[in-house]
Amino acid sequence: MIESSQPIDISRMRIEVPPHPQWPPLNDRQLRQAKSRIRELLQAQNAVLVAHYYTAAELQELAEETGGCVADSLEMARFGAAQEAETLVVCGVKFMGETAKILNPEKRVLMPDLNATCSLDEGCPADEFSRFCDQHPDHTVVVYANTSAEVKARSDWVVTSGIALPIVKYLADRKEKILWAPDKHLGRYVQRLTGVEMLLWQGSCVVHEEFKSVALERLRRLHPDAAVLVHPESPESVIEQADVVGSTTALIRAVEEMKNDTFIVATDGGIFHKMRQLAPQKNLIEAPTAGEGATCQSCAHCPWMGMNAIQNLEQVLLSGGNEITIEPAIRERAVVPIQRMLDFASTHM
Ligand code: 13P
Ligand code: SF4
Repeated sequence: MIESSQPIDISRMRIEVPPHPQWPPLNDRQLRQAKSRIRELLQAQNAVLVAHYYTAAELQELAEETGGCVADSLEMARFGAAQEAETLVVCGVKFMGETAKILNPEKRVLMPDLNATCSLDEGCPADEFSRFCDQHPDHTVVVYANTSAEVKARSDWVVTSGIALPIVKYLADRKEKILWAPDKHLGRYVQRLTGVEMLLWQGSCVVHEEFKSVALERLRRLHPDAAVLVHPESPESVIEQADVVGSTTALIRAVEEMKNDTFIVATDGGIFHKMRQLAPQKNLIEAPTAGEGATCQSCAHCPWMGMNAIQNLEQVLLSGGNEITIEPAIRERAVVPIQRMLDFASTHM
């Protein structure tokens, strides 16, 4: 039983993290051939690829070469909703595929692997979350996009990292009390910047949680001219050292636009592909993930994003399997807070 007004302790929840990487690399010839087969399949099925910046470089390239998109989670949702194609193939994690389906119920939405989840989504089960909301009926429920369709259906607003701050500011101006889930780090960051009291669910991202502040301080001393770019799912002590805190798109833009030659980047390493494409002359360094006395170097790569590969993308297009389905009653409720976010984005950003 969850105590009223107490933050939820999700530490007892065991989150299974899959091994990474899961797919062997293809040689140049295999990759060329697979890409050309996938291009034909996409065209024959009137399908587009919608990929996240954390997916493998070859998937990002293929998405762009075939008229799809590579983006952050907000832009992925907007792109999918504006598409004419009958099929969206979402290369990312499950909440991204579900959001695409919720916004486009008439379209077929496929994913290379339906088990590609997210620790934030896993750490926020809909039944417990719903009980938490029931205990605080006077609060406006704001949930991060990294949640299941059921959790979104229980919310008033859905936000992504790219739009969380302006939406919470807007709600704060209306004197609304906020219940926030599931990422405690992003929640605390938004709370600090807006000064709003927020009830925080205690979820976290297993990838960003790994960035270590003491090692980052040392690295900054070695590169005093480097700008530090941090995704707000990182711990507070890492965020405090950032020159820029923002969504994946904001961090990419910073590399392009800032004068610095060197950047220390605290987010999933998949983002380096787009950063190198847009700013090949810049020097990019991964923020450290090994803590004091660590015997191994944990890697800043999302194991669930790593479940997307050229091989299972081709399989899914051939078989038509791995289709996202959402119960109509859940979809009907979940679309409201997602659409609210998109409407806010089109009028305020
Ligand atoms: P963005 O919306 O910033 O791309 O973040 C999604 C995500 O899952 C980061 O871990
Ligand atoms: Fe979820 Fe973290 Fe992976 Fe993003 S990087 S999808 S927040 S587990």
